[in-house]
Amino acid sequence: MPAAASLRLFGLDYSTHEIGGSLIVHADCFEWMGRIPEASVHAIVTDPPYGVKEYDFDQINKRTNGRGGIWRIPPSFDGHQRAPLPRFTALNDRERATLRRFFVEWARLALRVLRPGGHLFLASNAFLSQFVFSALAEGGLEFRGEIIRLVRTLRGGDRPKNAEEEFPGVSSMPRGRYEPWGLFRRPMPVAMKVSDCLRAHQTGGLRRRSNGLPFEDVIESERTSRAERSLADHPSLKPQSFLRQLVHAALPLGTGIILDPFMGSGSTIAAAAALGLASVGVERNPDYFKMAKEAILPLSQRPVQQEPRLLSSAQHITPSPTAGR
Ligand SMILES: C[S@@+](CC[C@H](N)C(=O)[O-])C[C@H]1O[C@@H](n2cnc3c(N)ncnc32)[C@H](O)[C@@H]1O
Repeated sequence: MPAAASLRLFGLDYSTHEIGGSLIVHADCFEWMGRIPEASVHAIVTDPPYGVKEYDFDQINKRTNGRGGIWRIPPSFDGHQRAPLPRFTALNDRERATLRRFFVEWARLALRVLRPGGHLFLASNAFLSQFVFSALAEGGLEFRGEIIRLVRTLRGGDRPKNAEEEFPGVSSMPRGRYEPWGLFRRPMPVAMKVSDCLRAHQTGGLRRRSNGLPFEDVIESERTSRAERSLADHPSLKPQSFLRQLVHAALPLGTGIILDPFMGSGSTIAAAAALGLASVGVERNPDYFKMAKEAILPLSQRPVQQEPRLLSSAQHITPSPTAGR
């Protein structure tokens, strides 16, 4: 793990806070990613504002006041009050073009800061992933597939609005049962093999699971628990049980730095800390930055089932039973 002093270099002249092997930075990631040294992080694991505007300050105010904007209360189907979700179907053509520009520009910055062969895991949703993923590819990142997080979401499945009784047997969209995460890589230098990339940059591949089996692209997950929500009241908090599997896979040799440039309340940073991995988180909203300062340590201490264990390098190179087939 890099010494705290080398992580501190990522603070530049921003307000920062250190928690164990992690550094968090209060900054706009577009500006920050343009200023840190090139090729300085090994992986990015992040959950961006995938509709771009839902975390704009005016939208967050509208969410707090419960009026207008992109955040809507989903229809109740069991009598319980629901938390607001961003309604992405409300994006118009102009907003979709903005989304594309946002992610193309951001992908170019991700290319700049990632080491060659470094992986990027990026949360999306079933409705917007086609736009977001193609923008990242246009920005120069290599598309390596998707990770499907199987989770019962509260999206979709509703009867046609204002005609529920007329069409009781119809739903406008499927009820969401998965969350797609784009998997990308900064292209390796031409003709470089994964083994050479691992030696030169400690990147290029994905870390196998603790049992020696490969990391898989479908992960059975859960909704974020009440216990974790009570530690970090962020609208998009992701569960530790899922994020720990991603950060474990993101560093193929178990060494290096993971970046979350849209950190929110710091759940990715907490997942990295739980596994003893070094990470840097960036958040521009002062309230969420403060929340992260307080939430990262207790989130990292939450026990989860099937905790990934870091393998020694010797275990790492043991061929799997299916090798060579
Ligand atoms: C979807 S949330 C991530 C939440 C996170 N997964 C968690 O568990 O708390 C996206 C976050 O990115 C932040 N954000 C949006 N634009 C940003 C920017 N340009 N630079 C840094 N943070 C930004 C938002 O304030 C929001 O907290």
